[in-house]
Amino acid sequence: MDSIDLSTGDEPVMKGNADTNNDSPSIARASVFQKTQLQEEDKNLFTHKVNGFNFDNGIDYHGLLQSFRTTGFQATNVSMAIDIINEMWLSRREQFAEDFKEEDQFIQRRSGCTIFLGYTSNIVSSGLRDIIRFLVQHKMVDCIVTTAGGIEEDLIKCLAPFYLGDFNLKGSDLREKGINRIGNLLVPNENYCKFEDWIIPILSEMLKEQQENGMHWTPSKIINRLGEKINNKQSIYYWAAVNKIPVFCPGLTDGSLGDMVYFHSFKESGLIIDIAADIRRINTIAVKAQKSGMVIIGGGIIKHHICNANLMRNGADYSVFINTANEFDGSDAGARPDEAVSWGKIKSNAKSVKVNCDATIVFPLIVAETFARFVHSRACKSSEV
Ligand SMILES: NC(=O)c1ccc[n+]([C@@H]2O[C@H](COP(=O)([O-])OP(=O)(O)OC[C@H]3O[C@@H](n4cnc5c(N)ncnc54)[C@H](O)[C@@H]3O)[C@@H](O)[C@H]2O)c1
Repeated sequence: MDSIDLSTGDEPVMKGNADTNNDSPSIARASVFQKTQLQEEDKNLFTHKVNGFNFDNGIDYHGLLQSFRTTGFQATNVSMAIDIINEMWLSRREQFAEDFKEEDQFIQRRSGCTIFLGYTSNIVSSGLRDIIRFLVQHKMVDCIVTTAGGIEEDLIKCLAPFYLGDFNLKGSDLREKGINRIGNLLVPNENYCKFEDWIIPILSEMLKEQQENGMHWTPSKIINRLGEKINNKQSIYYWAAVNKIPVFCPGLTDGSLGDMVYFHSFKESGLIIDIAADIRRINTIAVKAQKSGMVIIGGGIIKHHICNANLMRNGADYSVFINTANEFDGSDAGARPDEAVSWGKIKSNAKSVKVNCDATIVFPLIVAETFARFVHSRACKSSEV
């Protein structure tokens, strides 16, 4: 194959051997000034020049985010994540077969692209909870997976606030004062007492329904019930219940919710929570999806649960991972999308990216350039948000 010579004619001319005159060593010059020679297949390597935002022209946040494309490193990955989510949105508008025969309204196909959203518990501890609520209220996603803290903390925030603290506050001092720390956030223990007062009667009601009407509880059905009961527009799960967006949490008992189920069992025993029925429900959503997109914030069970559901359809079409986990230890949390391709959880021709960043910084920026734009442009057309 012919090589492309990028030389400009200005390259330094190689001179003789330094051992015999005062010139620099030719081997050093040849090494340092080796010519760039592209093969035919490398032609596209140099299509985008590296450039950053120019503040000389004023402050423009949209322009700033657009400049991420050519900034490099994780800024460029953020830009790729924005493009991929915008493509998911376009696919959502593609024609799709209506799913009238499906009696479970929560798992009916709703668009040309089913969007799965996953997030770890601490995302709900943080202010990102309000951004997730926005997405769910405006029906931007079709299926949610989170962990137990991601459920209970949304509900607890409707009962009592969380506070900003400091990563360095001493655990033993906080323990004495009855304050719990999540990173640099603080949760008074009282919040959990309020949660207990709120949820124990609901658990009793659920047990009664199971015993008297044969109600078959699964984590997703419990979350739907809790969303209905909290009846608060600040809540993610209130809107999930209103909009019939299913929320899965295979580890529902690994948090305060588990503590409450435990304490309740001394009062009245016998509540059964079936995780088998939920795996059928989430996998069916993936199997039905015309196209599938994944937006996964954080790692662990939430990441794998969504990817595994997408294995049932031979892989997602779009995937955006945002997490700080590494891949060198072989963890699923840190695995790049390409590892999921090898398992059939992401399609070989899928558009995918992993953004290595704290989601509290980057997710609001991504939403500002994607979902929030769709909601507000739709609102302009229909004059409602
Ligand atoms: N507030 C809480 O964190 C909380 C509360 C109650 C229970 N729990 C329980 O603890 C268990 C473990 O929590 P988990 O599975 O939700 O996740 P986790 O906190 O163990 O996080 C898993 C991985 O996600 C990534 N990640 C987390 N936060 C991130 C961020 N801000 N930005 C980018 N990447 C991030 C990291 O790589 C991390 O290793 C769960 O069973 C959960 O229910 C957590």
